[in-house]
Amino acid sequence: MKNTKPPLLLFIFISVSLEALWVSVTGDNVGAYRPTDDIAVDCGSNSSSPVGGRNWIGDAADRSDYSPIEKTHSSTAAEASSSSPSISGAVPYLTARLSRSEFAYTFHVTAGPKFVRLHFFPLDYLNFSRVDSFFSVEAAGYTLLRNFSASLFSDKTSSPSFHKEFCLSVGEDQILNITFSPTPGNSDAYAFVNGIEVVSMPESLYYNTVVDSEGVKLAGQQTPFTFRTTDALEAVKRLNVGGQFVSPARDTGMYRTWEADDEYVTSSDIGVLPVNTTIQLNYGEQVPNYTAPDPVYTTARTMGMDKRINLSYKLTWSVEVDTNFYYLVRLHFCEFQIEINKPLDRVFRIFINSQLVEGHADVIEWSGKGVPVYRDFAVALYDSQKKRTNLSVALGARPDGYTLYSDAILNGLEIFKISNPDESLAGLNPDPVPNKRQPPPGPPQSSKAPSSLSKAVKIAIVAGGTSGFTILSLLAFFLYRRRNRANDSIKYWVVPDHHVSVVSDES
Ligand SMILES: *[C@@H]1O[C@H](CO)[C@@H](O)[C@H](O)[C@H]1NC(C)=O
Ligand SMILES: *[C@@H]1O[C@H](CO)[C@@H](O)[C@H](O)[C@H]1NC(C)=O
Ligand SMILES: *[C@@H]1O[C@H](CO)[C@@H](O)[C@H](O)[C@H]1NC(C)=O
Ligand SMILES: *[C@@H]1O[C@H](CO)[C@@H](O)[C@H](O)[C@H]1NC(C)=O
Ligand SMILES: *[C@@H]1O[C@H](CO)[C@@H](O)[C@H](O)[C@H]1NC(C)=O
Ligand SMILES: *[C@@H]1O[C@H](CO)[C@@H](O)[C@H](O)[C@H]1NC(C)=O
Ligand SMILES: *[C@@H]1O[C@H](CO)[C@@H](O)[C@H](O)[C@H]1NC(C)=O
Ligand SMILES: *[C@@H]1O[C@H](CO)[C@@H](O)[C@H](O)[C@H]1NC(C)=O
Repeated sequence: MKNTKPPLLLFIFISVSLEALWVSVTGDNVGAYRPTDDIAVDCGSNSSSPVGGRNWIGDAADRSDYSPIEKTHSSTAAEASSSSPSISGAVPYLTARLSRSEFAYTFHVTAGPKFVRLHFFPLDYLNFSRVDSFFSVEAAGYTLLRNFSASLFSDKTSSPSFHKEFCLSVGEDQILNITFSPTPGNSDAYAFVNGIEVVSMPESLYYNTVVDSEGVKLAGQQTPFTFRTTDALEAVKRLNVGGQFVSPARDTGMYRTWEADDEYVTSSDIGVLPVNTTIQLNYGEQVPNYTAPDPVYTTARTMGMDKRINLSYKLTWSVEVDTNFYYLVRLHFCEFQIEINKPLDRVFRIFINSQLVEGHADVIEWSGKGVPVYRDFAVALYDSQKKRTNLSVALGARPDGYTLYSDAILNGLEIFKISNPDESLAGLNPDPVPNKRQPPPGPPQSSKAPSSLSKAVKIAIVAGGTSGFTILSLLAFFLYRRRNRANDSIKYWVVPDHHVSVVSDES
């Protein structure tokens, strides 16, 4: 930080990664679904911010449609303090609504299933200490979070800012109330939120398994699992297997985030990553074009080059989840490799937590070449001894005689927690992570920033220390250049050590 080299390197890195994203994250079905309700609230902000192709509406303006409802007008709107060492993200993470008493938001929406996303950036805000957030969130009759500590979750997952995504059904009264309440019996406890999204989803997207009266295969059980249209879900993980991060703006219109799968592959052999950028995907009636973005289906992970190796291991993904819930596991498939054309070309087995759930997975037989398809499974993860456990999905190759290629393929993976009989999705807080104390805040930098700068640019200064101004100039220049080239918006994630990742949200 004592010389000017880091900012220059930083700048080059930004250009390179943005250019890479520009070419690789493409898809024809961006925005294939138009949600009837598409609400984004920037909590604690008194203005509206267009970000990622949508308008984040502040809840703090005098006559906002989304002002919180409170018995005592005691909640506070606050800005994320820019002296925080690991500030990250942009809107809606720059401001927050905080209170030591209950507050609620009311949304007038159509009946039917909705995504509800709650965004959090745990920090010290005014006199609300980062470590004191302990609160519950209820909506549509369900407990989404209980005694939730945003700082413990953030430390455990190493994500300075994060969101929690839920699927809820709004009834015929067409009202969705979301209530935040600090944990009682703890006078320091407060509730807060940085952003709220309410977005409609197609009736048949995740709840279609209900219509299917047979239910879904439950790992380790003979009886299938059925859930109700009124059950609530929490999206625990959504992976673009073998591919790259897909930003909310690149989703099919529902602003879902698809992560790369690399860090969740836990088999000794991590397989190979085929890709076909030229194939024309054919969505059918069973799997409509909004199901997942095209890049999910045109990238995959398969087993490797050698049959002895293919048969010697199972290609495995593991995701840590809360115990004592049922989970819905959706596996996305699409065959696009030149060698795989007929039924029996690539037949494999699927295991969930070591239980065989599918002995004859043949994607060509299920759908055909270039036709996306998915399969849903359920698994019960009950354990009275542990708070968390690993949910694993494993693919196993079959020997000669069963199949032409001893191999297996997966294109996408979604994992949902299903609400329990107490109508709750709440798990327990993770234990504190040792040595995860925040480093002492550096000297405040915000006074150096001209006040007219956009919030996103302000963030960049923080990581820069003494070289903050150089970074700032470069970023400002860069922003200006990009804005001119394409009318887009760019999000910066700035973490200590000058590692900057840039996600471009062009649409
Ligand atoms: C998605 O499918 C619908 C219905 O078949 C069609 O009207 C629409 O144009 C498709 N959208 C895209 C982006 O392919
Ligand atoms: C709106 O935000 C600005 C800048 O943060 C602040 O100066 C102003 O007091 C706010 N107005 C209201 C009504 O909160
Ligand atoms: C500090 O918190 C109390 C409530 O605990 C609140 O009444 C007060 O206004 C807060 N002070 C500031 C400066 O935000
Ligand atoms: C939602 O909140 C409003 C205002 O507090 C209340 O009048 C209404 O009954 C609530 N509706 C539901 C469905 O909870
Ligand atoms: C992609 O799919 C098309 C159509 O099936 C095929 O012609 C082409 O060879 C495939 N490309 C690769 C790299 O597999
Ligand atoms: C889940 O698996 C990972 C990697 O194998 C391991 O580090 C972690 O401790 C496991 N978590 C639990 C709760 O067993
Ligand atoms: C093993 O998997 C690789 C990678 O998908 C595939 O190309 C190969 O044909 C498979 N090996 C055999 C012998 O089937
Ligand atoms: C809330 O969570 C904290 C940390 O996990 C725990 O110490 C505390 O006992 C919990 N409080 C309640 C009321 O559950």
